[in-house]
Amino acid sequence: MLKDDILRELEQNRGKAISGQDMADKFKVSRNAVWKAVNSLKNAGYNIESHKTLGYYIPNDSDVISEEGIRNFLPEELKYINIITYDSLDSTNNEAKRLLANDENVAPCLIISDGQTRGRGRGGKSFLSEKGKGIYMSLIFSRELSQDESDIITIYAAVAVKRVIERYIRDEVGLKWVNDIFYKNKKVAGILTEAISDLESKMISTVIIGIGINIKEFDVPDEYKDVIGFLNISDVPRIKISSEIVEELYKIFNENKVEMIKKEYFSRLIDSEKSRV
Ligand code: BTN
Repeated sequence: MLKDDILRELEQNRGKAISGQDMADKFKVSRNAVWKAVNSLKNAGYNIESHKTLGYYIPNDSDVISEEGIRNFLPEELKYINIITYDSLDSTNNEAKRLLANDENVAPCLIISDGQTRGRGRGGKSFLSEKGKGIYMSLIFSRELSQDESDIITIYAAVAVKRVIERYIRDEVGLKWVNDIFYKNKKVAGILTEAISDLESKMISTVIIGIGINIKEFDVPDEYKDVIGFLNISDVPRIKISSEIVEELYKIFNENKVEMIKKEYFSRLIDSEKSRV
């Protein structure tokens, strides 16, 4: 579709203007068709700027969540995964379950939403998910695992998130058993892994790895002010951070170096429940 082609072209050249004529030539359509497609993308909420003489561009600091944007930041070998983006959802983990109920072959699939109205954490807790302020994503992943291995998935995911966050804050985070990420003594991210198991074999066949990260500050109710923190990353688009997390997750899962990852995990553990693995 022309709109997807244009978005991909602009994402691949973030910050650089491309003329309507160049895109018209490249996609073998008229300039008017390009103009119409750009307008419809703008109306759909994409941050596309126009420069009078140079053409169209996505500003470097644009933080709109888009499928093409995420795909653009993924490495070649992961560009094939399903990516579904939403403006708002109850919970990306809930959506993952709904998608799986409709199509058991939907994995690998990344679901990402700009905001959530009922973000969930472990133990029935809620995860505050203000629109535009965080990363709220779930990765549906096919993986044969025994029930005992389910904590390992969360550890793998925590290490992936830790690696990417530390890249941008240039500081160390702390991990709290098993799924919380802390920075400056406040929780800045959480992971909710949910497994779909085969009732007969008791083996896990599919996992939903839900990741929530507080990227930019937002107002939280008074009772949470001392416990919820923010990374305050403002110069890196959320789509870049989320793509890099997906890339790290795949790397860690494919390498499957359990002991090495556990060591990395425990090097950041800030509570004393180490005996649990
Ligand atoms: C926790 O705090 O216990 C885990 C929080 C996990 C939040 C993420 S946000 C994306 C995904 N969707 C949800 O409803 N929860 C996870």
